[in-house]
Amino acid sequence: GITRHYKFDIKLQNVTRLCHTKSIVTVNGQFPGPRIVAREGDQLLIKVVNHVQNNISIHWHGIRQLQTGWADGPAYVTQCPIQTSQSYVYNFTIVGQRGTLFWHAHISWLRSTVYGPLIILPKRGVPFPFAKPYKELVPIIFGEWWNVDPEAVINQAMQTGGGPNVSDAYTINGLPGPLYNCSAKDTFKLKVKPGKTYLLRLINAALNDELFFSISNHTLTVVEADAIYVKPFETNIVLIAPGQTTNLLLKTKADFPNATFFMTARPYVTGLGTFDNSTVAGILEYEFPTKTLRDLAANSIRKLPLFKPVLPPLNDTSFATNFTNRLRSLASAQFPANVPQKVDRRFFFTVGLGTSPCQHNQTCQGPNGTRFAASVNNISFALPTTALLQSHFFGKSKGVYTSDFPISPIFPFNYTGTPPNNTMVLSNETKLVVLAFNTSVELVMQDTSILGAESHPLHLHGFNFFVVGQGFGNFDPNKDPEKFNLVDPTERNTVGVPSGGWVAIRFLADNPGVWFMHCHLEIHTSWGLRMGWLVLDGKLPNQKLLPPPADLPKC
Ligand code: C2O
Ligand code: CU
Repeated sequence: GITRHYKFDIKLQNVTRLCHTKSIVTVNGQFPGPRIVAREGDQLLIKVVNHVQNNISIHWHGIRQLQTGWADGPAYVTQCPIQTSQSYVYNFTIVGQRGTLFWHAHISWLRSTVYGPLIILPKRGVPFPFAKPYKELVPIIFGEWWNVDPEAVINQAMQTGGGPNVSDAYTINGLPGPLYNCSAKDTFKLKVKPGKTYLLRLINAALNDELFFSISNHTLTVVEADAIYVKPFETNIVLIAPGQTTNLLLKTKADFPNATFFMTARPYVTGLGTFDNSTVAGILEYEFPTKTLRDLAANSIRKLPLFKPVLPPLNDTSFATNFTNRLRSLASAQFPANVPQKVDRRFFFTVGLGTSPCQHNQTCQGPNGTRFAASVNNISFALPTTALLQSHFFGKSKGVYTSDFPISPIFPFNYTGTPPNNTMVLSNETKLVVLAFNTSVELVMQDTSILGAESHPLHLHGFNFFVVGQGFGNFDPNKDPEKFNLVDPTERNTVGVPSGGWVAIRFLADNPGVWFMHCHLEIHTSWGLRMGWLVLDGKLPNQKLLPPPADLPKC
């Protein structure tokens, strides 16, 4: 591999959408941010310089960071944030990974504007496991747009204990599209030629919504999820949660069609509360081959009928279940599925919402005058004021974290039934699970119906995991494991815990460091649906966390 240098200047930029102009935090003035393209085996050196008043840190979502946890990025987990006028060089090598990932700010809600694609091409001379597409670098990155400052939205929600205001639009590559007021000129257009195959790289960088996506009158072939190849399958509609990426092959029509086509996305939502149920649209446009033909066609093109795709109802859990069940690892000789066949440690975590006592001398806006909160095993994870990885590495964990995260819920109850009262109120703590190097882990995550069942896209830093099972109702430890798929389960870094159900994953803890795990719905993370794993060093030199770089930010 080679070494690639990037510079990320964090700076303010005026951006106008929906007729609202505001100053947003960006990388290099771009929204969405610059795209990183590298190859498997390359080393990346990304210098991040902070020119704004906000603290910042950047996470390379889905990158394994083998031995380089210092470059992972979540603020107060693997590093202190980069303060105003300071800089930090993220230094890591891409080992054994290729596909579509992304990068985003990992502090407060700054990832609402600070995000961009991270595309890893296979090593030179190594083909895709499908025919080479005509165009292979087409990011379709979903985001959200707020007319107000998202930092103010989350600050207000945390101060009042209530739910946050929702976004004003969804975006494709930063553009809301023609279905919103004052937005027609801000429409993403994908210009294509007939009879070709395009590799679309979908990234859901939205803060708070899973999305359905479709292109009218075109069939899509899913070939990859979270930078892992899957057995190809055809679908008209894709479901993608925040934190997930999906590669699709789009085969264009053989001849110029007498139409233009919308691509649209709108949310899949199962929870209570308010959400943005609007639709973002982009346009798939067949481009005539020569300028003369294009000019001749220009007028008639504008008059071509425009077809819109049909998306499932907002709460279509059966579509969601069928779609995720179709995702299977290639499990080929070249791309084997190394599913841990035996398990060293089993964990059962509940994930869900709850409440916390109101801490202000005012009435909180959450249920019954409490604050909204969220938890894993009834513990709302509290971020420390220093970084967990440093505390661990320098042996200064005292007063920062404890190593007694419960391996099963502290209040066992009927998780998908009516919750008893003692499960509602959560405690705020900073607890980690400690794993010996190379522990083979099985983790069942059970959604709870406290304040209503809801799908939670859980993201694990530092690892890919295999999704060996999922189901509805309460997980049954005696019966359900018999049905686990240990042959070709999908391997990924973000999985939806089904609304009113459970998901089972397996991973090998072969990466020393402190690794964050959290719901990728940003509001749930803010409410505490997060925890951490501490994986100890192994005996061999390549099983140890490397020492921190000299420019690692201090708190
Ligand atoms: Cu993409 Cu911890 O996040
Ligand atoms: Cu969640």
